[in-house]
Amino acid sequence: MERIYVFDTTLRDGEQVPGCQLNTIEKIQVAQTLELLGVDVIEAGFPVSSPGDFNSVVEISKAVTWPTICALTRAVEKDIEVAAEALKYAKRKRIHTGIGTSDSHIKYKFNATREEIIERAVKAVKYARNFVDDVEFYAEDAGRTENEYLARVVQAVVNAGATVVNIPDTTGYCFPDEYGAKIKYLIDNVDLKDAILSTHCHQDLGMATANTIAGVLNGARQIEVTINGIGERAGNTSLEEVVMALKSHKDRGFDTNINTQHIYSASRMVSSLMNMPVQPNKAIVGRNAFAHSSGIHQDGVLKNVETYEIINPQDVGIDDNAIVLTARSGRAALKNRLAILGVKLEGEELDEVYQKFLEMADRKKSINDDDILMLVGKDGRLTRIKIEYLQVLCGIGVRDVASIGLDIAGEHFEATASGNGPVDAAIRAVKNIIRRKIKIKEFLIQAIDHGSDDIGKVHMQVEHNDIHYYGFSANTDIVAASVEAFIDAVNKFVN
Ligand code: KIV
Ligand code: ZN
Repeated sequence: MERIYVFDTTLRDGEQVPGCQLNTIEKIQVAQTLELLGVDVIEAGFPVSSPGDFNSVVEISKAVTWPTICALTRAVEKDIEVAAEALKYAKRKRIHTGIGTSDSHIKYKFNATREEIIERAVKAVKYARNFVDDVEFYAEDAGRTENEYLARVVQAVVNAGATVVNIPDTTGYCFPDEYGAKIKYLIDNVDLKDAILSTHCHQDLGMATANTIAGVLNGARQIEVTINGIGERAGNTSLEEVVMALKSHKDRGFDTNINTQHIYSASRMVSSLMNMPVQPNKAIVGRNAFAHSSGIHQDGVLKNVETYEIINPQDVGIDDNAIVLTARSGRAALKNRLAILGVKLEGEELDEVYQKFLEMADRKKSINDDDILMLVGKDGRLTRIKIEYLQVLCGIGVRDVASIGLDIAGEHFEATASGNGPVDAAIRAVKNIIRRKIKIKEFLIQAIDHGSDDIGKVHMQVEHNDIHYYGFSANTDIVAASVEAFIDAVNKFVN
């Protein structure tokens, strides 16, 4: 079997997505889950971009043992110095530096020539090698870079000491045969010495997984992926899709170090922490990925699961026989379920979550994995505005009216408003207190399960002074969840 190295960029390319930002503690939680999953490289951030990113790379380097910790830079000396400093505590470290190589990047981004770009690339790799032995170079927009020139760039950076060369299809433009041919061209025309080629494919045309597989079939030995395929715009390549595709086609001779039984819990954790729902029909980890609904399919599956199932759900950690959590479940059952989902809680923290669990279990008959992850979610953050009470009068043939009490930095405020529906009335009441110009740009309510006692997740994007802020909440009462999500967003700019 040929070993394919898995480079996870959930915490860098994934975390760039608006609304998906994590704090350092949450990033450490994700990094430890990635370690458990068996990824080879964790791209932990872009240290020069912000003090928060710098600090996260430092803390992840301390918290994780086996995977290589990678930090992104531009081909700029200052970036490389800051990345090296952030990686100080990593047991295995890599600097990922690079520059745009397509004609449009060279002309419009850098106002440079092809030769100047090669010079800058070589200089960056050599500079990074002064700090670490493992340097990855990315040729940004390689998908739209002419192969002959790309081969010259790759040869130059390998000669300069790059250990891995990343060939990103930054805009998700390539067809699988085209991307595969690009990798083959580089394998055939560059003396790679001991370096390997890496794929990094975006999903703009829905071909990220296909392109990554084409890259592997043509000689790439590292794949850059994210959990649930999150990433810039339409996203990056899904770790779970490529890993399970290679596993399901063992006969092709490729293997990864991923312990696939941790895939489902990693997916839930990332979705929950990043407030990024997984679409129900998402391959491998979507709610319907293993649900057979048509009569013909059900009949076949009952006779033999192989008729319509190419993957055993247990192979990705979906356990239908898991203990059902109810109001009568004890702390130990909750702790065990949390551990399966990749969250380790003890002592006071566990007590706190257990109390919230009991309150939820009173309102909801059975508690699923999403509910549990919600309980350990973002609560407890320091917030300036808190809801004291919310009362809504609504129905058919009546005027919808809401009254709300808010605690703003310790002071009590109350307001009432009517509106076009209960959510509108409640948000108008909030706006009567917070007298700022706030426009709701996006409002998404999603039920997790199926029952009428289900939890509704609300994602809200609001605009204030031309800047967009994201808010999230989850509650069995969707009016309350909507107001909480609105206030979560507002809390990000009030001071
Ligand atoms: O898509 C891309 O080109 C990237 C690089 C920074 C690796 O994310
Ligand atoms: Zn990318």
